[in-house]
Amino acid sequence: MSGRDSVWRNPLRDRRDKRLPRIAGPCSLIIFGVTGDLARKKLMPAVYDLANRGLLPPSFALVGFARRDWDDEDFAKVVHDAVRDHARTGFREEVWERLAEGFRFVSGSFDDDDAFDRLKDTLHRLDKERGTDGNHAFYLSIPPKAFPTVCEQLHRSGLATEEGDNWRRVVIEKPFGHDLESAKELNSIVNSVFPESSVFRIDHYLGKETVQNILALRFANQLFDPLWSSHYVDHVQITMAEDIGLGGRAGYYDGIGAARDVIQNHLLQLMALVAMEEPISFEPKQLQDEKIKVLAATSNILPLDENTARGQYGPGWQGSQKVPGLLEEEGFSQDSTTETFAAIALEVDSRRWAGVPFYLRTGKRLGRRVTEIALVFKRAPHLPFDKTMTEELSQNALVIRVQPDEGITLRFGSKVPASSMEVRDVNMDFSYGTAFTEASPEAYERLILDVLLGEPSLFPVNEEVELSWKILDPVIEAWAESGRPDTYESGTWGPASADAMMDRVGRTWRRP
Ligand code: BG6
Repeated sequence: MSGRDSVWRNPLRDRRDKRLPRIAGPCSLIIFGVTGDLARKKLMPAVYDLANRGLLPPSFALVGFARRDWDDEDFAKVVHDAVRDHARTGFREEVWERLAEGFRFVSGSFDDDDAFDRLKDTLHRLDKERGTDGNHAFYLSIPPKAFPTVCEQLHRSGLATEEGDNWRRVVIEKPFGHDLESAKELNSIVNSVFPESSVFRIDHYLGKETVQNILALRFANQLFDPLWSSHYVDHVQITMAEDIGLGGRAGYYDGIGAARDVIQNHLLQLMALVAMEEPISFEPKQLQDEKIKVLAATSNILPLDENTARGQYGPGWQGSQKVPGLLEEEGFSQDSTTETFAAIALEVDSRRWAGVPFYLRTGKRLGRRVTEIALVFKRAPHLPFDKTMTEELSQNALVIRVQPDEGITLRFGSKVPASSMEVRDVNMDFSYGTAFTEASPEAYERLILDVLLGEPSLFPVNEEVELSWKILDPVIEAWAESGRPDTYESGTWGPASADAMMDRVGRTWRRP
């Protein structure tokens, strides 16, 4: 044996391969807002999938808290249906039965002291009977206006207070406020009850494999780094396009709009990961610090009316289906000015990125569902070909396909066979589906597991949230003063103003 092989590994001590995820210790997860869509479609299925993958301990409990008049059995039935309809992994009776023994439900409203006292009794009993050891994660899947009441109740009932070695954590779903001021207020309320180190803010994009892979692509390879700067990159386009409309979501979305819904969080986080410098390690603090530096150096390209676009979908066709416009969707007022499409242009004030615009766009009812990050490279300074030979050649691009067809594409020019020297775009593809046999976990599996492990790397901290609002606030204010958003036909790629925004600077949006 030589080299690495000569290091003897005791297989009995190395019980688990370090490459596999760690198993959570004894604990419970308490979900507030357990009757909501997110809990049903994502959280409960993710808990089951984690159990199915062997990543939850035998002493794990799932507690639901809501106003419904349910008992533990009713709750178990609700979880069962959610798992049946939405779990990623197959149903295994023995896993389900072991997990379901730890299900409890507490019925009550957020302002009901007795209900929180009952929750406390329930958790104490679980500590003794199931061995959850006083470790509790409170998941607030509730409207932000209810945060202060729930935090106050957790504080009053003593549930937020750690005793001895145990831990208490709070998990917060977005939106983290609706502007900088409200975010600060919210952060100070949460931090008055839970120290920042116990606060886990969910940005589910950070839980996606393809998003974590940005770090591997950039920092595990030598190939891309020399290209990753204003020397070679012309601009960056980050697109999150959805084909779904907003039927059924008026309560949350009306008055919020596309920019607050996903640019403030998902898209700015993607940008930070693409633009940040190499962290000195992947310790959470080091990673957060690098993202914070990017966000602090980011500002809007001015003037805002020429470098932003917003739109609202009108009626149109989604494939072969005729779909209504936003104003015809249930719950939206006839004079709603909520934007369902938003595009902004940002610059990062740093040596690496000086002069490179970052274009971020998102929209509902667009041509198709796709999220991607495209680094579009500068044109070659000189093309020693006859002009007609390169008519079909566009700018080189590196495209990180976040979803749904997860992978990476490199676009470059190649000679067309049998032509004299015609050059045309071709794609070199990496696709998760063919490169790996392992399936990607759902974002919520990774994030819930990390909460239970107390691993904060993938959760934006206070400062990131506030800096993101600082970037977005002026845009939203300018839009508020400029009347209605433009209308775009459903099934298209957004309003004409979005194309005009790129036209002005001689660029075009990609049609992914
Ligand atoms: C959520 C937004 O954060 O992300 C939704 O509130 C959006 O409006 C959703 O539809 C998209 O998530 P994903 O993972 O399907 O891209």
